[in-house]
Amino acid sequence: MAKKLLGYDMLTPDARRRWEARHVQASALATSPYKADFPLLAQNRDLAFLDSAATAQRPKAVLDAQKRFYETMNANALRGLYQLSVEATEAINEARTHVAQFIGLDGEKDARDVVFCRNTSEALNLIAHSYAPDVLRPGDEVCITIMEHHSNLIPWQQACRAAGAKLVYMYPDEQGAIGEEEMRAKIGPRTKIVSAVHVSNVLGVSNDVKLMAEIAHQFGAVMVVDGAQSVPHFPVDVTELGCDFFAFSGHKVFGPFGIGVLWGRHELLEAMPPFLTGGEMIESVSEQDAVWAPVPEKFEAGTQDAAGIYALDAALTYVEGIGFEAMQARERALVAQCMRRLSGLPFVRIIGPADPDAHHGVVSFNVCGIHPHDVASILDMGNVAIRAGHHCAQPLLAHLGIQSCCRVSLAFYNDAGDIEKLIDGLKQTWRMFNE
Ligand code: ALA
Repeated sequence: MAKKLLGYDMLTPDARRRWEARHVQASALATSPYKADFPLLAQNRDLAFLDSAATAQRPKAVLDAQKRFYETMNANALRGLYQLSVEATEAINEARTHVAQFIGLDGEKDARDVVFCRNTSEALNLIAHSYAPDVLRPGDEVCITIMEHHSNLIPWQQACRAAGAKLVYMYPDEQGAIGEEEMRAKIGPRTKIVSAVHVSNVLGVSNDVKLMAEIAHQFGAVMVVDGAQSVPHFPVDVTELGCDFFAFSGHKVFGPFGIGVLWGRHELLEAMPPFLTGGEMIESVSEQDAVWAPVPEKFEAGTQDAAGIYALDAALTYVEGIGFEAMQARERALVAQCMRRLSGLPFVRIIGPADPDAHHGVVSFNVCGIHPHDVASILDMGNVAIRAGHHCAQPLLAHLGIQSCCRVSLAFYNDAGDIEKLIDGLKQTWRMFNE
């Protein structure tokens, strides 16, 4: 009845799915209307894919876009004066504008500050190699959190080592949150760079990077945000966050592998030297010297993966079509259900905050007395895909007093059936080791 009153029957399929995700949570969770959009999931109905934090599945719209590029637009962007090359260049320009809008910027004005690279790791390395050496002096400090992925940790170790600077860590409380007191204790007059993960790939918690940026700026430091695990889960507005650099990967936000994004404040990017050198990142070259192209081309040496960039554009369009409101509502409900069901297993210990809403898609846990690799291998026999190990966050795991753990990472396309398969697999794992 309510559906009729709201004109449910007249909604487009996409709008109907959005409506259902918002208003009929329980029934919508039982199965996923979204799996049909993802060929790999649609063709493997028995698969419980619970590793989207490692890489998300791609919808058909993204796969089609990549194919369409090669079939109808393939040429080397920027270089050719012929129509195909112009189209490839336009595809990159349009994607750049779209990315800028997607992270809360003015698409037209700010697109120039969006640098395409391979992934978040490369984006963070770019900052550590191009920005850090000019600002870090002996005795200076770079401040990061203990929950960094190695991608936002090793580059700073290297940059500090090269400059004689110190790497300082902020630690979370028992609920996984890095509080203001901890931030103020660690960020100070010696700090030149603060770099923090927006959402932890192990704990699932989000850091208050807006407050960190405010404190960093009080001391004249810049704020770098690793958004690899936040961009797939909630809307990001870099202006609102007040950060100076923001990085994310296309493949975690339902786009292709091999395309990452670095956004930086224009004046910072302009003052930085290039990270990689080569084709199309120059204004002119003489025998002994070169003049760099303007931002962003200065940071995009070599032939760009135009097909991937075009497909990333399609991925962002797909996400916008579903809407973060619907995605978040579904993910929250799935995380809550997953935690509730895991808590019912006496041999499982959940890692991280007790509040499901504090886990952005990620639930890590251990099974008492069974190595996480064994757990993951046995689950795989039942077609349940999770990640197990150190999750490229070894300092965090050492801080938590563990060497490895199991991690379930959920996306809006998962359903209650996936969670039940996980629970059944865990019960079976326990029986294999204990009966
Ligand atoms: N960074 C990815 C993960 O957390 C690979 O799994």
